[in-house]
Amino acid sequence: MVDLSAAYEGVEGVANFPTEEALRNYRAMALERSVQQADFIGRRFSGAGSVAEACCGNGRLLIALADRMQRLQGFDLAASRIDFARQWVEAAGCKNVDVWRDDMLEPSRRPAPADLGICITGAFAYFGALSGEHERRAVASLGAMVRPGGGLLLELYQHPATIAHCLAEPDGRWQRWSELAAEDPFRFSLSAFAYDRQRGVLRHEKKFIARNGSVDEGRVEALRIYSPETLDGLLAPWFDQPEWYGDWAGNAFAPDSKHMIVSFRRRAD
Ligand SMILES: C[S@@+](CC[C@H](N)C(=O)[O-])C[C@H]1O[C@@H](n2cnc3c(N)ncnc32)[C@H](O)[C@@H]1O
Repeated sequence: MVDLSAAYEGVEGVANFPTEEALRNYRAMALERSVQQADFIGRRFSGAGSVAEACCGNGRLLIALADRMQRLQGFDLAASRIDFARQWVEAAGCKNVDVWRDDMLEPSRRPAPADLGICITGAFAYFGALSGEHERRAVASLGAMVRPGGGLLLELYQHPATIAHCLAEPDGRWQRWSELAAEDPFRFSLSAFAYDRQRGVLRHEKKFIARNGSVDEGRVEALRIYSPETLDGLLAPWFDQPEWYGDWAGNAFAPDSKHMIVSFRRRAD
């Protein structure tokens, strides 16, 4: 089984940012990449004053939203990412942002129910790739994060091209190299994919090559690939009124969309 804690721990360790400038540039790049998401949230959930984000990573979206909301809460399993987020929140002077380390599957501290719950960048799909029971626990965590009548925003990756490549191979496996942005402490990433058609689960093994030549490997992610019908059915005990989008510009979702972005309304208790 995939170890969720091994996938991201240490990614943003201080050793990867040898100078203040390297850290500044990385934060600036992460904020830049959050602008379109923050704008989408501002438009779609214009009345929301509080946000709770599950699997918030380095806190980039919370910081990007900080001047639009009164209260922002976020948690993530990776202690190193939460350390990074805390230092960033403090450096940015965001007194309304609170982040802590926690496990979505066994939360030790529940966020105060917010106007809007968020779980993006495909993170929700990790739990369905583990088992139906893990998935139901993740849905219950999302349900508890949002006040009745509030909103939920999920972003799931569909990987249509990767799945087509895997399905074209006799063993269902496919791999590719990518070069990363200049601000990233790593220069290259190697992704090896395997698609289990029966379970609808895409397994992704990642290897990163740093600019100094050192190699970071052993990070594995497995994602359940959802259809609108399966996702809607799964969330139905807690959420209704889904609206589907195919990108952060707000275009409609289509079967070949790379992203499935969906907003729900939290049902009354
Ligand atoms: C693809 S990253 C996305 C981070 C963030 N959502 C963003 O937009 O930058 C997925 C995150 O999910 C976190 N994660 C994985 N399993 C988790 C769990 N059980 N509970 C909380 N966070 C988890 C990882 O540590 C990682 O930071």
